Amino acid sequence: MLYVLLLTHTPMKGIILAGGTGSRLFPLTRVTNKHLLPVYDRPMIYYPLQTLVQAGIKEVMIVSGKGHAGGFLELLGDGSAFGVRLSYGVQEKPGGIAQALSLAEDFADGEKVVVILGDNILEDSIAKAVQDFSAQEQGAKIFLKEVDNPKSFGIAEVDGAKIVSIVEKPKEPKSNLAVIGVYMFDGQVFKVVKTLKPSARGELEVTDLNNYYVQQGTMTFETLTGAWGDGGESFDSLMKASLLAQQWRQQGKLDKPIGAKEE
Ligand code: G1P
Repeated sequence: MLYVLLLTHTPMKGIILAGGTGSRLFPLTRVTNKHLLPVYDRPMIYYPLQTLVQAGIKEVMIVSGKGHAGGFLELLGDGSAFGVRLSYGVQEKPGGIAQALSLAEDFADGEKVVVILGDNILEDSIAKAVQDFSAQEQGAKIFLKEVDNPKSFGIAEVDGAKIVSIVEKPKEPKSNLAVIGVYMFDGQVFKVVKTLKPSARGELEVTDLNNYYVQQGTMTFETLTGAWGDGGESFDSLMKASLLAQQWRQQGKLDKPIGAKEE
């Protein structure tokens, strides 16, 4: 009995994907990684890390790209200042979100995982959804959020409580419901990644991974009510993310950043 209790209470592991060339933000990202850029008063990666910490995640792996991995290590160390245990993975060359995720296979060790993109900035806690997914027998879970520019995201077509399909950056979007960069997957995900074929832009797409679960009928979703920003999508989205964070700080929703100068 105690054994069962312990099993159900083991928190899921978290993975932050922080690779890529950040070419949409050149020249800001010529000499640094997009996820180390400032978003108001802290580096961008603090936000997804905090989202995971707030959800009760205790072990996090950060996957970044060559050239910048040292920056993350310098900034975040072993994670103890943030209340987590951090490990690091390096994507040798950009190959897409799903390819970056595949580097976390040993880390996940067959368990369910919460994956967050390093440029996603959320107002709401995901703790309840993480709990719900712990109890979900199998499959995956994603979050949807209404957006004004659906051509810039993975867009879901929804029928009641069911996702019918997801299209990556559609030319003719069927809805304005963006799939945000927070995904929960069961232990099968790494097997599924191995079956994916590169897309037209030569990447293993997270949308193809999600569509596998949609087709299996095991994809669940939640609609995000609080604000959401994809800080790395454009200069405007980066600035919008900073303005959101400034607002949250003023409203007392965000603490002073870890590592800030003591007054
Ligand atoms: C990625 C995903 C896209 C998702 C978005 C959320 O796009 O491919 O499906 O909607 O993150 O931030 P990217 O920002 O890498 O272009």
